[in-house]
Amino acid sequence: MSAQIPPAPVDPAAAAAGRAKVTVRTVAAKRKSGDAITMLTAYDYPSAQIGDAAGMDMLLVGDSLAMVVLGHENTLSVTVDEMLHHCRAVKRGAAAAMLVGDMPFMSYQVDAPSALRNAGRFLQEGGMDAVKLEGGRSVVPQVQAIVAAGIPVMGHIGLTPQSIHALGGFRVQGKTAAEAKRLLDDALALQDAGCYSIVLESVPDRLAADITRRLTIPTIGIGAGAGTSGQVLVFHDVLGLFERFTPKFVRRYAELGTAAREAIRQYADDVATHSFPAAEHTFTMSDEAWQAYSALADRPAGTATSARRRTGVAAPTSTR
Ligand code: KIV
Repeated sequence: MSAQIPPAPVDPAAAAAGRAKVTVRTVAAKRKSGDAITMLTAYDYPSAQIGDAAGMDMLLVGDSLAMVVLGHENTLSVTVDEMLHHCRAVKRGAAAAMLVGDMPFMSYQVDAPSALRNAGRFLQEGGMDAVKLEGGRSVVPQVQAIVAAGIPVMGHIGLTPQSIHALGGFRVQGKTAAEAKRLLDDALALQDAGCYSIVLESVPDRLAADITRRLTIPTIGIGAGAGTSGQVLVFHDVLGLFERFTPKFVRRYAELGTAAREAIRQYADDVATHSFPAAEHTFTMSDEAWQAYSALADRPAGTATSARRRTGVAAPTSTR
């Protein structure tokens, strides 16, 4: 008698979103079929809802939140607890996308046991489906320990912002033959260690395409050209909400920063000119209640309850 394989469980939240929950298997299947994998960062409930509803395969709670949400100069200062706070909000906003939590600086570099403990927190406390960490061969023991615990790991090589001081700034990586070979060896080592995919950031397009060809797991490019298995961008860059600088590899699909400033300026003008709020934004009161109130208004404080009992006027129940 052949064993029956039960059908994959239906995730109710994903079903409500009208598409199946994206998993490591979905991502691997897309790599195999050649369909591009889409990934976007998300940091809170609204950005997760937007990315999920737009059909993103994966949402990354990136440590870029240190810069684009918290206003820090680089990604180094964000902590695991801060990341988890944002992960939980993203979890509440996303139904179908695979959720990847970015392990921040010093949460995995020290040793494999502490990396595993911190990775576990992203799943247990943050509701993530996977974690991402930066680095090549130097983090293989950490990747192995996390993967062995059943946690999917996404690698990240090329420009690794947590090493900004060692790299000497936000610079393209892998431009020389030796650097390119190091990146290829790092990618192969991460694949061997069990990563289910690898981000390639700011590397020449032909190198990214070659690494992608040599791997069996998908690559997700950011500033790595069109030859990777998928693409990732930062939410605030895509929407024109981060205006301190725009990397060469970003295409801005909207100018929401400008639109938001114009909208808020309009709101301020409307308040100043008393054209907001208008009648449709206000609550009304019956003539009967108003007359009863008028009779009470000049009485000393604290006498309203007994007066309400006498006049039969109901207490207010809702403000919306
Ligand atoms: O933190 C982040 O947003 C990232 C992506 C740029 C890949 O790591």
